[in-house]
Amino acid sequence: MCGIIGFTGSQNAAPILLDGLSRMEYRGYDSAGIAVLNRGAIEVEKAQGRLTNLLEKTDNGKRPQGFAGIGHTRWATHGAPNDINSHPHVSGDGRFAIVHNGIIENYAAIKEELTAKGHVFVSETDTEVAAHLIEECYTGDFKAAVMKAVSRLEGAYAFGIICSDFPGTVFAVRQAAPLIVGLGFGENYFASDVTALVSYTKNVIYLDDGEFAEVRTDGVTIYDSIGRPVEKPVSKIAWSIEAAEKGGYEHFMLKEIVEQPAAVKEAIAPRIKGGEIVLDDFDLTEEKLRNINKIVITACGSAYHAGCCGRYAIEKLTRIPVEVKLASEFRYEDPIVDEHTLMIIVSQSGETADTKAALEEGKRLGAEILAIVNVVGSSIARLADHVLYEWAGPEIAVATTKGFTTQLVLLYLFALYAAKKLDRVDDFEYARLLGEICSLPKRIQNAIDLNMVSIPRLAEKYHDRGSMFFIGRNTDYAVALEGSLKMKEISYIHAEAYAAGELKHGTIALIEEGTPVVAVCCNEDLLEKTASNILEVKARGAEVLALSFRENRDIIAHADDVMFVPKTETFFSEAVAVIPLQLLAYYVAKANGCDIDKPRNLAKSVTVE
Ligand code: AGP
Repeated sequence: MCGIIGFTGSQNAAPILLDGLSRMEYRGYDSAGIAVLNRGAIEVEKAQGRLTNLLEKTDNGKRPQGFAGIGHTRWATHGAPNDINSHPHVSGDGRFAIVHNGIIENYAAIKEELTAKGHVFVSETDTEVAAHLIEECYTGDFKAAVMKAVSRLEGAYAFGIICSDFPGTVFAVRQAAPLIVGLGFGENYFASDVTALVSYTKNVIYLDDGEFAEVRTDGVTIYDSIGRPVEKPVSKIAWSIEAAEKGGYEHFMLKEIVEQPAAVKEAIAPRIKGGEIVLDDFDLTEEKLRNINKIVITACGSAYHAGCCGRYAIEKLTRIPVEVKLASEFRYEDPIVDEHTLMIIVSQSGETADTKAALEEGKRLGAEILAIVNVVGSSIARLADHVLYEWAGPEIAVATTKGFTTQLVLLYLFALYAAKKLDRVDDFEYARLLGEICSLPKRIQNAIDLNMVSIPRLAEKYHDRGSMFFIGRNTDYAVALEGSLKMKEISYIHAEAYAAGELKHGTIALIEEGTPVVAVCCNEDLLEKTASNILEVKARGAEVLALSFRENRDIIAHADDVMFVPKTETFFSEAVAVIPLQLLAYYVAKANGCDIDKPRNLAKSVTVE
């Protein structure tokens, strides 16, 4: 996902722009660039590849000079990743420079129209068209030209724009892509992501779709889509820049794995008041719940796996049917959703395009929308009827860990809250299960402590395998899905999660001498069943790495290796069982020398469909 940043103040812009871009590297990119206003002219520096290439070109930010500017990390959508296609892009007359996160869907028609008027384009990008369109609309008023040009555009865009006629001003525009304004003292900022700003200011304004921000040295004015000034609340960022730094860990991913007990505690704590669960502003009354005949959870990737896990707790406790749907499939399957459906949208970034589109489809069909999101003020958070923030703090590694476990505990809390409202659990069971949820941070810490030393050794044994199976039943199968994705996305080993009982219907044909099989055995009701599946694969030569609790004596006898976790209430067990699977993927990837925090081809948030 691209990242944009803008600055205006009384110090050189380049170092601040480059620092902000470095804090957005985790979003995934293939080129970067900055444009700075320097004595009435726009100076642009950009480079393909990592930010270090741009730092070289700018002599580590000593050049270009100038007190206002914009910056960009590009994740290519239109045009190959190269110096010409990277941003910023400049208008034909050199008066405007622009950076962009998103996609302009009608750029081709506008490009044709402008070409006919004599505009000459140098890149393949949709963004360059916007720069020329602003030039075409310009009659001396920067804001008017931007607004007129933007009114022609269709699609998703967060723009940062500078104009050589307006030296102290940078313009920001938000439409279906995140954009935050930062308020400083004698300087102001904007960026796609709070992490780019938090070391300069904690006072931010979240722009809404259709809004423009005129960011000047002396202040910021926000306009609505027809140019009227609007008052916006100033929010305070709840975490420090250290939270978005490695803190001595070799990788963000390991730091975020270790942060999970604290993150899960942060997710739970504000939702327990006087021994009762409260779901923030989501007043889900008994009457509303009885009007719901189905819950649809929709998400992508690990967030989808969180839904697959949380489904068991929700169905077990509320007896409301739950469907878990891939967001990228949801809107193409003519979904059966209406006013009796509660949709739970799960997304760490709150910007995943497929998930946002599924939310909009569900809203169109009349469903009530609850979003479980980590990034405050993100698009999905703003579109939903109700939001439960994960409060996990910034998650920088592309492979989610604390984002996943905090999603799980919010789904568990929802399940128990709804069960109580529906009178499906008595006071004793409610208190017991609430105690189980509140003990999850401790259990997760225990799982980390039990495996942090042993798993690197297991990783050495299994890191060079061509493929890996993850098997389990019920809740164990759901968490096996997440374990296999972690392994795939950071170690690049092909891994497949399979319902253990399903293996014999075909896939067991793939098991041969030495095939590694991770068997998740944390569902207490199904231990014997999974044990028989372990024997099935071992009979065909598999090497079994079991995941269970110490009390499960049989498993230790059958498996070649065992990863232990503390025994946990079955339908809350995924939040603990996933810990060794995260660590296994991390240390296998480390043994393979992979780029763990920024895996190839992946972005932290996929804002394209
Ligand atoms: C998880 O490790 C991956 N990075 C990916 O599957 C991710 O979970 C998915 O893209 C959804 O992202 P979201 O939670 O930000 O919507």
